[in-house]
Amino acid sequence: MSYAELLDVAVRAARVAGEIHLAHLGRASVLRSKSSYADLVTEVDGEAERVIREVIAERHPDHAVLGEEEGLGAGSSGGRYRWIVDPLDGTVNYAHGYPVFCVSVGLEEDGQRVVGAVLDPTRNELFTATRGGGAYMNGGPIRVSTTPTLTTPALVATGFPYDTSGERNLALVARLLRLGVPVRRPGAAALDLCNVASGRMDAFWELGLKPWDCAAGSLIVEEAGGRVTDAHGRPDPYAEMIVATNGPLHAELLSHLGPEA
Ligand code: IPD
Ligand code: CA
Ligand code: CA
Repeated sequence: MSYAELLDVAVRAARVAGEIHLAHLGRASVLRSKSSYADLVTEVDGEAERVIREVIAERHPDHAVLGEEEGLGAGSSGGRYRWIVDPLDGTVNYAHGYPVFCVSVGLEEDGQRVVGAVLDPTRNELFTATRGGGAYMNGGPIRVSTTPTLTTPALVATGFPYDTSGERNLALVARLLRLGVPVRRPGAAALDLCNVASGRMDAFWELGLKPWDCAAGSLIVEEAGGRVTDAHGRPDPYAEMIVATNGPLHAELLSHLGPEA
């Protein structure tokens, strides 16, 4: 199966989810909270995952699908392919009508990320990548920035989990703020990664993300020429801390975030 064919499925799935996001924007009901009162689930999270699963199953009924809302779909394990889906990344933003959210669809083949599609429906920006095939936004090639140092200055993004474990990140943010580095907290991790890939941001880090936040976006960063590692500089997009940069900034950022900092 070619990566181009698989990407086509990822893009179709992302597009149907994006339509659902837009159709309910500003009037989606919040159904419940998960890990904390702020960790919201709207009707759109579940509905978007349902349609994504339909699109994938229509073409690849034998593939496993890991989605944030439904977990690992029944009857779909043991094969070579695993789709990893965040049907709505940035739910809190979405629930408030703050237009920074996206859908993220990644695919692993034999445990290796090979396809990624992230759609920002409000800007109609589709970020895609296939392993070895480069990264694109709306079909045009994208590259990471060339910013050489944090104090150039670089524009850096981070995020916080919804529960109070986010406090661990405060010391790391403080280190960068003391250097005078502009730090942002946009609120949709998959889009943060795509912003690094397209050079709008120079770097991003976060603690405690899940595979569905990172599967597609991390491949898009790598295919755009960037670097994605854990806090020790080891390539692991699903690590406890993900650090994604344009490359030149990586060692300097790790020196502020890593365990030796
Ligand atoms: C969240 C967003 C946010 C990040 C959180 C994630 P969700 O995903 O990506 O930016 O800081 O850690 O859980 O819950 O909106 O899909
Ligand atoms: Ca998410
Ligand atoms: Ca989500």
